[in-house]
Amino acid sequence: MTGKFFRKLIDLAVFYFAAKNFKQLPDTGLSKLVYDILEKKSGNLVFQQIENIRNDLMKDNSVIDFNEMGAGKNGLGRKLVSEIAKSSLSPAWKCNILYNTTIQANPGFILELGTSLGISALYLAASDNGTVVHTVEGNKSVAQIAEKNFQHLGMSNIIQYIGEFDEVLNNILAKNPRIEIVYLDGNHNMDATLGYFNKILTHCTDETIFIIDDIHWSAGMNSAWNEICNHKRVSCILDLFQFGIALLDKRYSGHFKIIKKRYKPF
Ligand SMILES: C[S@@+](CC[C@H](N)C(=O)[O-])C[C@H]1O[C@@H](n2cnc3c(N)ncnc32)[C@H](O)[C@@H]1O
Repeated sequence: MTGKFFRKLIDLAVFYFAAKNFKQLPDTGLSKLVYDILEKKSGNLVFQQIENIRNDLMKDNSVIDFNEMGAGKNGLGRKLVSEIAKSSLSPAWKCNILYNTTIQANPGFILELGTSLGISALYLAASDNGTVVHTVEGNKSVAQIAEKNFQHLGMSNIIQYIGEFDEVLNNILAKNPRIEIVYLDGNHNMDATLGYFNKILTHCTDETIFIIDDIHWSAGMNSAWNEICNHKRVSCILDLFQFGIALLDKRYSGHFKIIKKRYKPF
């Protein structure tokens, strides 16, 4: 435990010294994109409503069936909704980045693997610019709560699928979609991540954006991330330590560690 903690601390220090804020990027086009995605404070009225839902979930002490899924987890059990809300959901700052990415890319089709209680899907759907979010969750009782949250906010542009990622993904891809934003936020192990990436890639456009969570969570995820970074279709990499963004768009190139300006102003 202590060894792992210090390893993480060292990784974070190495990241910090190598990281650049948007102003320090060599290319002005990329600098603007990073500013727009990372720094822009987006004022969408629906954010407060989503955060109200998050707060209610964090206080919800009802117990639901919970099938642990994903890397290093397995087994059927029961869990407090509040516990799931506190441990699984993308925080508001990350959701803001997801939303900003949808504003930049103006996508028709977003794919999310890992709905959980639906918070990140709500942010991905919030721009409501003709975007449809397709989100997949293997845990039925969790997905049912997400569905209620989508209905509560009247988000009819979210299509929810319940099932194992691999199986649902095959069904989605069989319909030949053009996927423009991908958020991989579940089952963080090397083979699974590379499997999803390679499958989805066959349905991407030249401008698709991949957002992949927990890229440095384990040695396996580090390897998966390195392989993604070196893939011939990936043209630009933004490593934000907790998650990574891989751009296929050839207008952008290079591999950068990125940090918000307020954490590293000079
Ligand atoms: C980190 S949570 C997603 C959080 C959500 N994106 C958010 O930020 O609001 C990951 C979810 O992926 C689901 N999951 C993990 N592995 C899965 C698999 N192989 N098939 C289906 N669902 C899976 C888990 O049940 C969990 O709810």
